[in-house]
Amino acid sequence: MLRLIEESTAYIQSKTDSFRPQFGIILGTGLGKLTDEIEVEFVLNYADIPHFPLATVEFHKGKLIFGTLSGKKVVCMQGRFHYYEGYSMQQVTFPVRVMKLLGIERLFVSNAAGGLNPLFKESDLMIIDDHISLFLPENPLVGENIMGDRFPDMSEPYDIHTIEKALLIATQNALEGIHRGVYVSVAGPNLETKAEYRLLRMLGADAVGMSTVPEVIVARQMDIPVFGISVITDMGIPEILQKAELSRILEAAHKAEPTMTFMIKELIKTF
Ligand code: HPA
Repeated sequence: MLRLIEESTAYIQSKTDSFRPQFGIILGTGLGKLTDEIEVEFVLNYADIPHFPLATVEFHKGKLIFGTLSGKKVVCMQGRFHYYEGYSMQQVTFPVRVMKLLGIERLFVSNAAGGLNPLFKESDLMIIDDHISLFLPENPLVGENIMGDRFPDMSEPYDIHTIEKALLIATQNALEGIHRGVYVSVAGPNLETKAEYRLLRMLGADAVGMSTVPEVIVARQMDIPVFGISVITDMGIPEILQKAELSRILEAAHKAEPTMTFMIKELIKTF
């Protein structure tokens, strides 16, 4: 596995003049617009990178973008890999390990999620301050131990200083609909039943989604500080649950995109 990660990294470095990104960014479903803000230097298709998994879901563009955002060097994954697409957890998290070898010092992750906290509404943002991984069918660290601790600490998966900065940015700019909460990950691809939404809420989660946690676990194993943000695309409140439609989920994500983009740009400026 380590050899494959090193070969991917070597290929990328050979195609990018050994560009050394300071920040890694993973963009979630319907949240690709941040890339418009990047002064792009290099773009690589996942399909061309040796050993990289291939993006299968049509609305994931599958590109690794290298450039400058808020004056800092970034590598941005436009499109990520999900367990529900049939990838193993090792494949889902492969790019995070590659980004580590490329030199990233921090990771920013975004996702689309269902709201469980009744105070949330569609197109609000939730700054992730903790997560629950226990519903995932596999853990990305199972197997041979590479690039980090065997039993990594998870007492602070999301960097508290970055969370505080994000909350300050929200206040100073009078951003509305910004919350802080716990993200619970599930495998998907079906959405939750009413009974499942109720259960997840009872267990202490504020939002539910099908991504992010595997990548965060792997990043933390390698000691990379993480900032995570969820866009609430639908509300999982059993009493008022509506039929889920992908088009509405994407529409809600697009509505929140400018605020999310602003938040990440402003945060990156502070480092
Ligand atoms: N559940 C799980 N994943 C999701 C949801 C949801 O309600 N909305 C967007 N991703």
